[in-house]
Amino acid sequence: MKSSITTLSLMVVCLAEASYASFNEQMAAKGKLYFGNIVDTNTIVENGAVEILKTEFGMFTPEYSWKWAFIQPNQGEFKFEDSDKVMEWAAENGKQIRGHTLVWHQNIPGWVDAIADQATLTQVVRDHINTVVGRYQGRVYAWDVVNEVFNDDGTFRASVFYRLLGEEFIDLAFQTAQAADPKAKLYINEYGMDYAGPKIDAMLALVSRLQSRNVPIHGIGSQTHLTSGRVDEVPAQLKRLASTGLEVAITELDIRVKRPVDDEKLAQQKQEYELVTRACLDLPSCVGITMWGVSDKDSWIPSTLPDFDAPLLWDSGFGRKVAYQGVDEALQRGVIRSVIFDPGTDQSRSHHAQLMSHVPHHGRINALLPSLRSVPCARSLPLPSSSHCRIV
Ligand code: XIL
Repeated sequence: MKSSITTLSLMVVCLAEASYASFNEQMAAKGKLYFGNIVDTNTIVENGAVEILKTEFGMFTPEYSWKWAFIQPNQGEFKFEDSDKVMEWAAENGKQIRGHTLVWHQNIPGWVDAIADQATLTQVVRDHINTVVGRYQGRVYAWDVVNEVFNDDGTFRASVFYRLLGEEFIDLAFQTAQAADPKAKLYINEYGMDYAGPKIDAMLALVSRLQSRNVPIHGIGSQTHLTSGRVDEVPAQLKRLASTGLEVAITELDIRVKRPVDDEKLAQQKQEYELVTRACLDLPSCVGITMWGVSDKDSWIPSTLPDFDAPLLWDSGFGRKVAYQGVDEALQRGVIRSVIFDPGTDQSRSHHAQLMSHVPHHGRINALLPSLRSVPCARSLPLPSSSHCRIV
């Protein structure tokens, strides 16, 4: 008789929590703005990917269709067909957008690279930003206004923008973007700031110069394209970026594994995804995390860095990898996942009584007994030590 009461109260507790929470919902429950991913015309039509994108994520970055070479391939000829599709898909599904990216040394059409005078380039940058940002005015949470301005040694890349306009091409881009959409958060985005070194030092120095020139910069995007085995410094470096007082975001997360990929390496990757997710959760100015892809088969990594593979949370069949649990466990931290009682002990009996005082709806229990054992539960109950709570 006694054990059935405990089982009953266990069921009541779990019923209260049998709802599934997406990464985005869990992130919001932790006071963050979003958990995001990339989307574009390829993944919108791919069943395996699009269901996961809709279910798990709330903020989306266009992977390629908003980049200069795609959106203005020839001077004055703007192609919004694909970029509009991305915006419409997001609007139809109640999702937000991070615009990516306005001024970048890559995906630049030849006619821009060929410009040889300051005045022409200044006007071309203004026209591009006014037209693209203006088209999506008020519908974009944040823009990666400039992307990857530094070499790994902390010097400026010799892009056409830097060669002709100097560092002030950044001021021009931010001021133009702000005028075109005063509501959007304006970010500088960069990779290789996951460990101490000249690049993150250069970024911190640049941001403080921009702030002293009152350039309207609101956030720093750390792409966070990581190599498994080299992630430990992520929390500390993210904190340094936050010391600027700006928003911080993890904008292009993937953790590549050196081939050959095996279960031991994937288990390490799981720990690393947990560490990176916690790094953002533990940093008040980190507003959100964006993954750079759903399935390993669609990732940019294998074609760009052939010695590496398996960088994402879902495998090539859209099955959840252990890495998925790494993110989920970080998001669930502090959440009591299940309650197991040993009806024999006095302590659990008193805890059971405590529980019962919190639980309504006794009536609806029996029907759900079979499925009870595997659902998370009891998030908001003031249970004592975690020794009573573990994964079923
Ligand atoms: C990558 C895309 O994922 C690839 O599909 C494309 O071929 C090249 O660009 N930093 C960025 C992203 O800011 O825009 C890049 O995306 C990856 C590195």
